[in-house]
Amino acid sequence: MHLRCDETPQWSLLRQHFETAGRCLDLRQAFAADAQRFAHFSQSAPHVFADLSKNLWDRPAEALLLDMARQCEIESQRDAMLRGETINGTEQRAVLHTLLRRPPGLALPGDLPCVAPDLVQVHATLDAMLAFAETVRADEGITDVVNIGIGGSDLGPHMAVLALEAFRIPGKRFHFVSNIDGHELHAVLRQLRPERTLFLVASKTFTTIETMTNARSALAWFQAQGGQDVSRHFVALTTHVEAARALGITTTFGFWDWVGGRYSLWSAIGLPVAIAVGAEGFRSLLGGAHAMDEHFRTAPLASNLPVRLGLLDVWYRNFHGFNNRCVAPYHAGLRRLPAYLQQLEMESNGKRVDRQGRLLPMSTSPILWGEPGSNGQHAFFQMLHQGSDVLPLEIVAVRQRAHPLAGHHQMLLANALAQSQALMVGRPSTDGHRHCPGNRPSTFLLLDALAPASLGALIALQEHRVFVSGCLWGINSFDQWGVELGKGLARDLELRLASGDATGLDASTAGLLQRLRG
Ligand code: F6P
Repeated sequence: MHLRCDETPQWSLLRQHFETAGRCLDLRQAFAADAQRFAHFSQSAPHVFADLSKNLWDRPAEALLLDMARQCEIESQRDAMLRGETINGTEQRAVLHTLLRRPPGLALPGDLPCVAPDLVQVHATLDAMLAFAETVRADEGITDVVNIGIGGSDLGPHMAVLALEAFRIPGKRFHFVSNIDGHELHAVLRQLRPERTLFLVASKTFTTIETMTNARSALAWFQAQGGQDVSRHFVALTTHVEAARALGITTTFGFWDWVGGRYSLWSAIGLPVAIAVGAEGFRSLLGGAHAMDEHFRTAPLASNLPVRLGLLDVWYRNFHGFNNRCVAPYHAGLRRLPAYLQQLEMESNGKRVDRQGRLLPMSTSPILWGEPGSNGQHAFFQMLHQGSDVLPLEIVAVRQRAHPLAGHHQMLLANALAQSQALMVGRPSTDGHRHCPGNRPSTFLLLDALAPASLGALIALQEHRVFVSGCLWGINSFDQWGVELGKGLARDLELRLASGDATGLDASTAGLLQRLRG
C-alpha cells in the first residue's frame, strides 16, 4: 500500500511553505529574482515544449513536491501500471492502454514481463483494423463514415479526427453521433445514403443505452432506406463481440477489458481516426504516444513532464485551493480537446474516497473546462484577468500552421503569448475598473506542428499527468461508479414516463414527471 500525499512528511512542510512563501508569491518578482526561472521551469518532452514558469510556485515548493512524489512511490506505481498489474482494484483490472501504442518488434524491457502475451493479440488486432481502414479509404463507394458512440467511444476519436483535419482523406465525410437525443442522429441521417455510408458502432461494453438506441435506429433507417448488406455498412468496435453479433453486426474489431473507455482512442475505438488519416498516420499517433510513455517511464522525476504537471495540479488544488483549470487550445483543430480532457480528468479523478474506500481529507479533481483561443478571450477571459477567483489557464499552441492564409497564424500565436503575458504582468491602474492585478498563472504547452505523432504525445502527456495526481491522492483513477446511479434511475423513469406512475418518487421528480408527460 502506497502513502497518499497527505500522509507524507512533505505535506505539512508544503503547508508551511505555502503559508510563508507560496500564498504571497509574485510572479513578476520571482522572474526578477531568478534569471534562470524560465530555464528551470520549462522543458522539452517528446513533441511538446512546456513552459511552467508562469505558475505560482518556486523551486523549494517543487523540490518538496518531488520529495512527496518519491514518498508516494510514484515510480513504482507507474511501473505497476506499465507492467499490467491489477491497479484498477474495484473492477479487478489491469490498466494497459500504453500497451496499445507499443511499436511492434520492440523488445520488452526486462521489467515489463507481464504484458508479453497480450502484445501479440494487440498487434494482430491493430494490423487487421488498419488493413480494414485502408480498404475503406480505397472504397470510393463509401463517402460517409458515422461513428456512433459516447464518452470515451466518442470524445477521443472525434477530437482526433478534427485535430488531424490537414491529414484527412479527401472525399469522405466524418460524422459523430453520441447523444441519445434523436435530433442529433436525425440531423446526420438526413444527409446520408445507405449504400454510401459506413456506420461504426463504438462501445466498449455494448450496453450503453445511448449507443445501443442510436445503433438500432441507424440499422432501422438503413433497412427502411433499402440498404443491403449490413456486414459491409456496419462495424462494431467493442470488447463484447457477441453482443454486437446479437444486434446483427458481424463485422467487428475487439479490444480488452484492460483498456478503459476514456483511454481507448488507441484501440479499435480509433478506427475513425485510422480511416481519416490512414494506417501510417494512425501508427504515427501511436508512436507519438509511445514516445511520451517512454519519457514518463524513464525521465528522472525532476524533468519528467507528466510528473511535473501532476505535481503542479496537486499544488494548485490542495494548497492554493484552485478548484478548476481552464484549457485554451490556440488551434481550431483542437476545439474538442477541452471536452476530451474533461472526461479524462474528471471521470478519472472525480473521486472522494481512496483506493481503500476511505473518505479523503483533501480535494481531488479540478473542474476542467475551456474553449479555443482566441474565441475564449472574447467571452470568459475577462474573468481570468479581473475576476474574484484565480483560475489557472493551460494554453496549447502550435508553432506551424497548416493553412495557406497569410497573417492569421502569427496573430493567433501573438494572442496566445499575449494572454499568458497579460495574466502575469497585469496592468496597474488607480481606476479599479481598469486595474488588472496580474500574477495570474498559466502553463504554455507548445507543439511544433499538429500532426498525428504530436497529437499522440500531447494526449499521452495528459493521461499520465492525470495518473500522477490520482496516485498522489491515492485514488483509483480507472473506475467511474458515480455515473452508474443515473443510468439505473433513467431506466426506471423511462417506464414511469410511459405509465405516469409516480409512486414513491420525491415531490420534485414526481411534479416534473407529470409536466414532461403533459
Ligand atoms: O458513462 C460512463 C462510461 O462508462 C464512460 O466511462 C465510457 O467512456 C462511456 O460510458 C461509454 O461506454 P461504452 O464505450 O461502454 O459505450
